[in-house]
Amino acid sequence: MQNNPNTNPAPERDIILKVEHLTKMFGRRKSQAKEMQAKGRSRDDILKETGVTIAVDDVSFEAERGKTFSLIGLSGSGKSTVVRCLNFLWQPTEGSIFFNGENIADYSPQQLMEYRRKHISMVFQSFGLLSHRDVLDNVAYGLEIRGIDKKKRTDAAMRMIEMVNLKGWENKNVGELSGGMRQRVGIARALANDPDILLMDEPFSALDPLVRRDMQFEMLSIQEKLNKTIIFITHDINEAFKLGDQVAIMRDGRIVQTDTPENMTQNPADDYVRDFIDSADKAQIYYVKHFMQRPACLIRQQEGVALALKQMRSNDLSSAYVVDNRMKFIGVITLDNAFRVRAGELSFDDAIVRDVPATTRDTQIADLIPLASQARFPIVVLDEKGRLEGIISKAAILTSLQ
Ligand SMILES: Nc1ncnc2c1ncn2[C@@H]1O[C@H](COP(=O)(O)OP(=O)(O)OP(=O)(O)O)[C@@H](O)[C@H]1O
Ligand SMILES: [Mg+2]
Repeated sequence: MQNNPNTNPAPERDIILKVEHLTKMFGRRKSQAKEMQAKGRSRDDILKETGVTIAVDDVSFEAERGKTFSLIGLSGSGKSTVVRCLNFLWQPTEGSIFFNGENIADYSPQQLMEYRRKHISMVFQSFGLLSHRDVLDNVAYGLEIRGIDKKKRTDAAMRMIEMVNLKGWENKNVGELSGGMRQRVGIARALANDPDILLMDEPFSALDPLVRRDMQFEMLSIQEKLNKTIIFITHDINEAFKLGDQVAIMRDGRIVQTDTPENMTQNPADDYVRDFIDSADKAQIYYVKHFMQRPACLIRQQEGVALALKQMRSNDLSSAYVVDNRMKFIGVITLDNAFRVRAGELSFDDAIVRDVPATTRDTQIADLIPLASQARFPIVVLDEKGRLEGIISKAAILTSLQ
């Protein structure tokens, strides 16, 4: 936006979406529920007596064009319901939604369809892809139903496939992709429509922490390039703070506080918000299972030194993990020791280093730091029967704590 140099340069906020006193109730006896609410009865009481759930209760906020607005709250606090009201998948029980100043409730069915197809797109938590179609057809799907010709929609879809770093995968069936990749397809599909607003309802919650961080990074860089307005729902405060220019915290259908992450951290409106912010670090607890890898060099005890050497050479590694026939972990053989075995200086059995630090998949990474600082090799991950499940490197432990 340009400012007239003769006027006060204080930037005017460019509001694309305005939500005013939005209330959404589920159930038939809404008028009775409203009466009870006016008398100050609790949500629980109202549900018990009338069967009506007040999913969203008098919610107001403004989303600025080109910014990310995060909505956060515990399960059942009303986040998804708010988002479904924004594209009128749910009709509000009370209150209004304004898109570029226009009240959505005044739209004709035709206008509402246009709004949904062109201006506001949704990325779902559970991907919502068409599993029998390939990546390209999934991404182009929205354009196809809008009747855009094939060449044009393929070009647009390919641009978005590139944007989410899936180039080369366009002809793969979505069933062959990992969770993170599928989520990228979902994002590319929503972006291919070139909507003004992207609604993202917990898009990353089904992903591993590492993949999730990748996707958060991806979103930030997409946002940098495309400058969309994003309504981002999560129940992870770290994610909300990382991605949101503004963050609103919901509780029992109401918004408790809307602010920038900085202001919210410095001036939490109440204890509920404070607790949420305090949980920020706790939510970032990672476990070994999130970071462990398969050992590249794995040999059975009976296979002996020749195979150990061959494997180390082909994987360019200087140690191999030795297991018995049942995958029970025995120890590590180093390249040096393997050479000594081959030269007849050591027996294979004696060459195996057996006091290797071990952990389990459900150990918190933070607890491994003392062990990792002294370990010569990556730490081995064993199951309850001592079988080798994976290894976790020092580097992985350190990155996870950043
Ligand atoms: N179609 C429906 N019919 C009846 N009640 C519903 C319906 N959809 C949601 N609710 C209720 O409304 C409340 C808010 O639900 P909503 O899905 O918006 O929560 P949420 O914050 O998105 O939760 P989550 O984090 O679990 O996704 C809940 O009590 C839920 O049971
Ligand atoms: Mg939800």
